[in-house]
Amino acid sequence: MAHLAIAGGTALRQAPFPAWPIWDQSDVQALQRVLQSGHWDALKGEEVSHFETEFAAYQGAAHGVAVTNGTVALKLALIAAGVGPVDEVIVPGYTFIATATAALELGAIPIFADVDPQTYTLDPDSVAACITSRTRAIMPVHLGGCPADMDGLLALARRHGLAVVEDAAQAWGASWNGCRVGTLGQCGIVSFHASKNLTAGEGGMVLCNDPDVASLVRSLSNCGRQPDGLWYAHYLLGGNYRLSEFQGAVLRSQLQRYPGQFARRQANAAYLTEALAAIDGVTPLSADPRVTANAYHMYFLKYDNERFGGIGKLRFIAAMRAEGITDLHAGYSLPAYRQPVMLAKNFGLAKPPFLNGSHAAVPDYGAVACPVTEYACDHEALWLRQNVLLGERRDMDDVVAAMDKIQRHLDEVP
Ligand SMILES: Cc1ncc(COP(=O)(O)O)c(C=O)c1O
Repeated sequence: MAHLAIAGGTALRQAPFPAWPIWDQSDVQALQRVLQSGHWDALKGEEVSHFETEFAAYQGAAHGVAVTNGTVALKLALIAAGVGPVDEVIVPGYTFIATATAALELGAIPIFADVDPQTYTLDPDSVAACITSRTRAIMPVHLGGCPADMDGLLALARRHGLAVVEDAAQAWGASWNGCRVGTLGQCGIVSFHASKNLTAGEGGMVLCNDPDVASLVRSLSNCGRQPDGLWYAHYLLGGNYRLSEFQGAVLRSQLQRYPGQFARRQANAAYLTEALAAIDGVTPLSADPRVTANAYHMYFLKYDNERFGGIGKLRFIAAMRAEGITDLHAGYSLPAYRQPVMLAKNFGLAKPPFLNGSHAAVPDYGAVACPVTEYACDHEALWLRQNVLLGERRDMDDVVAAMDKIQRHLDEVP
């Protein structure tokens, strides 16, 4: 009789982890408030502008400009940081594709640096090796809610006169040395996509301390308008990247419960980290003491294949899911530089509008090698989704118990 669920035994756990997103009557009322007001866009209503003020204050930024999503926010933040065609922007290999394509869409060239094996965030030594006379900006990603080494990256940026644009898409409330991320550099961005810890289905925000940067981003996101200009007067090349009032209202409502959820994720993550000491072969990423708060969009684990009899990370995940740990994932299966789009001629487009004659400056991304990133993608990184950390302590115990069960019955894994 098999023990492991993947081999036909009984699953350790039947109950699902907490569902995501979370909503209640306060979200319904927020939506009704907008519906009944008749002010459905942010130019007439006040929900988005209140949310901008509330979230920027929460994140410790002087200004916040809400936009349609994190990808657009990255693009506008790069423009505001002065990035343009043929400029090089250093990004981590281990990230979501938007970190790189936001630069490409401006005709700028993403240059991939490797990540630190202890944190999976941008490694300052690898960044230093990528700096050339064409480098314009560094774009750290606070991956999974864990701040990158901002001391090291900001020092490099200062030495070489570079802008720092923080991709804090996954890091609402995360802090480095006691300062919330997003404005440690020139500016930063967050995402409010449905998977994110703070969400309205879609949405994003550019955060900054400089009022001129904020005005520029606002104009870029509002068809190039100016606050005192006529409705049909457009002063710079922008687009319509405005958030709707419905999204603004839901985000305000979600923000009310965010600090409580944040604290719960932190407490459960601390408990899980201790409990995982019992498992030889699955280790949480190390905590840099300068990371004073991790937002835990993901709880990252490092899987050691040898300690699991060489079954491989994908079969380990399949075995865990069969035991009922359904929210465990393999994460990015490819480094960003190995994504088909990065290897395709003209980035998959017949006539890429954004290259502006910069083709010659585009490196052969097929030749890029970031060993830590590649090892994380292929063999090591496991992601436990944020909703798991909203559960009870016994849910964390189940995660550890499932690993233990699999390790005790490795011979049953098909
Ligand atoms: C690291 C990172 N950067 C940028 C983005 C883009 O955000 P959005 O999906 O809101 O466009 C995401 C979203 O998944 C992300 O995880």
